[in-house]
Amino acid sequence: MTDIAALVARLPKAELHLHIEGSLEPELMFELARRNGVAIPYASVEEIRAAYDFSNLQDFLDIYYVGMNVLQTEQDFYDLTRAYLERAHADTVRHVEIFFDPQGHTDRGIAFETVMAGITRALDHAKAEWGMTHKLILCFLRHLSEEAAFETLEQAVPHLGRIDGVGLDSSEMGHPPSKFARVFAKAGELGLKRVAHAGEEGPPEYVYEALDILKIDRLDHGNRALEDASLVKRLADAQMTLTVCPLSNLRLCGIEKLEDHPLKRMLSQGLRATCNSDDPAYFGGYVNDNYVRTAEAIGLDAGEIIELARNSFRGSFLEPAEIDRRLAEIDAAIAG
Ligand code: ADE
Ligand code: ZN
Repeated sequence: MTDIAALVARLPKAELHLHIEGSLEPELMFELARRNGVAIPYASVEEIRAAYDFSNLQDFLDIYYVGMNVLQTEQDFYDLTRAYLERAHADTVRHVEIFFDPQGHTDRGIAFETVMAGITRALDHAKAEWGMTHKLILCFLRHLSEEAAFETLEQAVPHLGRIDGVGLDSSEMGHPPSKFARVFAKAGELGLKRVAHAGEEGPPEYVYEALDILKIDRLDHGNRALEDASLVKRLADAQMTLTVCPLSNLRLCGIEKLEDHPLKRMLSQGLRATCNSDDPAYFGGYVNDNYVRTAEAIGLDAGEIIELARNSFRGSFLEPAEIDRRLAEIDAAIAG
């Protein structure tokens, strides 16, 4: 193990940008397809992996929405979430803030309750077993209408004790944050945190809309904010957390090679950047792989790697006392 890999492995961290449906590994997809008698357009696990060759976000999303068809029962959602949490635990992740896409399930006849029950049972199990804490973030699919998002929020109301925030994901171009102004305002009134994918493929203007119109508490990706110096200054001054996903950016061709990734530049410009896996089953690495491969490609030093781990807790939706406790665990891990 390299020095960087050893440091990353030892550091307690939070993962703040993880789509649970994007953690569906080909092996589990195959098993669930068989278990549920669902047809998938692949003959083998190798064929599934070979299909994961994307040129942009939409290429990936087309495959991602087909993959999730195998998820049918409460047990399927439990198995999916449990498998991710085991990977996260092995990566010294102590806190997770997980996205889920209910419309990807309810639109094919799976009850909202089934999705919630399976995911929360696995989260509760990880808390009891390892003390791993969690938050759950319901994402609206932005290629669908705001009316559909309102219907989903309505379905979530009986579950608000288990849902901490709303997010905005799926096809960014042509679906600006402003399209969801009213439903985000309603989510705010319900006491939910607000996050949104912006600046992954979309222009800096979409980041401004996420800040000014959606009133986000955290920015998912945000890479293209770097094109606008005054926006960078605003994000840095506000200490807005960016949930950056380097291997995702590479696989979706936001960058040509990992050596071009702007994570070091983000930190040096005072942005509160974090390092996350996005859809690890599709993009070739869980959180520690994202840290290590990026650090090696762009030359992050130990201080920068530790800062990313600290930022992951600072940018979480944990209570301040809990954040302090986790930051102290980082200090202990470094000292030890
Ligand atoms: N849904 C799952 N992963 C996504 C991503 N990286 N961007 C937008 N929507 C997503
Ligand atoms: Zn994402």
